[in-house]
Amino acid sequence: MTIHTLPTPALLLELSVFQANRAAMTAILKDTTLALRPHYKSHKCAAIAHMQIADGAVGMTCAKLDEALDLADAGIEDILIANQIVDPAKIRRGASLAGDCRLTVLVDCMENVLAWEKAAAEAGTVVHCLIEYEIGMQRCGTSDPAEVLKLAETVARCSHLRFEGIQAYAGHVSHIESEAERRRYTGENSQKLRGLLAMLEEAGLPAKTVSGGSTGTAAIKAMEGLYTELQAGSYLFMDATYRNLGLPFGNALTVLTTAVSAKPGLVVVDAGIKSCGVDQGMPVPVDLQAERIAASEEHFQIHHPDRILTVGERLRLLPGHCCTTVNLYDRIYVVDGDTVVDRWEITARGGCR
Ligand SMILES: Cc1ncc(COP(=O)(O)O)c(C=O)c1O
Repeated sequence: MTIHTLPTPALLLELSVFQANRAAMTAILKDTTLALRPHYKSHKCAAIAHMQIADGAVGMTCAKLDEALDLADAGIEDILIANQIVDPAKIRRGASLAGDCRLTVLVDCMENVLAWEKAAAEAGTVVHCLIEYEIGMQRCGTSDPAEVLKLAETVARCSHLRFEGIQAYAGHVSHIESEAERRRYTGENSQKLRGLLAMLEEAGLPAKTVSGGSTGTAAIKAMEGLYTELQAGSYLFMDATYRNLGLPFGNALTVLTTAVSAKPGLVVVDAGIKSCGVDQGMPVPVDLQAERIAASEEHFQIHHPDRILTVGERLRLLPGHCCTTVNLYDRIYVVDGDTVVDRWEITARGGCR
């Protein structure tokens, strides 16, 4: 079967580039102390998670309880939910999930620690905890080292919780185009983190795990030797936003679209923001020089000085953001050029709870 008969929009994965991206990450981490714990949110596909475990990943990172349930259901044994879960019903469900896999969660406030302890005690399970240290992204976590220590001490005293270490994720650094700048910000963040880790060590609570990092900072973190786990997700697929960073990963993911209207200098395709994540930027057409792209729900209007396209012609787009694009599809077509060689289900698609 070829892609020409696929109904569009369709999500395509170029197999050879995907395999090369897996190999490139293995090469980055080889002979370092940084283990791969890739982020599930980037593909949400249980089959791919198993490939990453086969590549040497120590477990998976995920964003949501829904994703953790999907991973456990697929037989993944070591799962980190790299977010705070505060809803009591979800905490109860998480605590019971900890009976089926090794579950680690993030905590950054005392009430949440105590809620997990209560739920894990009721479920008769053990939940591992990372304290989230906020190092500049201004999302969750506490930036106060004294507060981190207090939380670590409390976790260590809980009979159904285990203090594992720290998550420090600097997502605001990941997409900085200049490698020198990315390196400089990463170095500054690591300096802060070193102080915190020394303090925990002195208090008799050494962090066994230091988790974080992304596709954009993978090589820097691998050289640095401070983190123990890398949570990179996008490296497998890549996208238009990551493409300009000069990383050793290629663009494997495209959205196949069909031109539904074409005039000189303008082509309108049958995919819009309901088929392609634009939160980090507009898609980039493959083999067509776009001057400007406008988006609506079901259309991208691509203004281009190039050749005239014809209605019905197909156009591949590199999504602006792979993670939010994948979440819009039930399946991904694995291709070798124009030939469809497989189809993988996006098993946790839409799992946002
Ligand atoms: C906590 C966390 N870790 C890791 C990642 C993975 O980053 P990337 O897909 O850029 O590799 C993200 C992405 O947003 C994240 O939020």
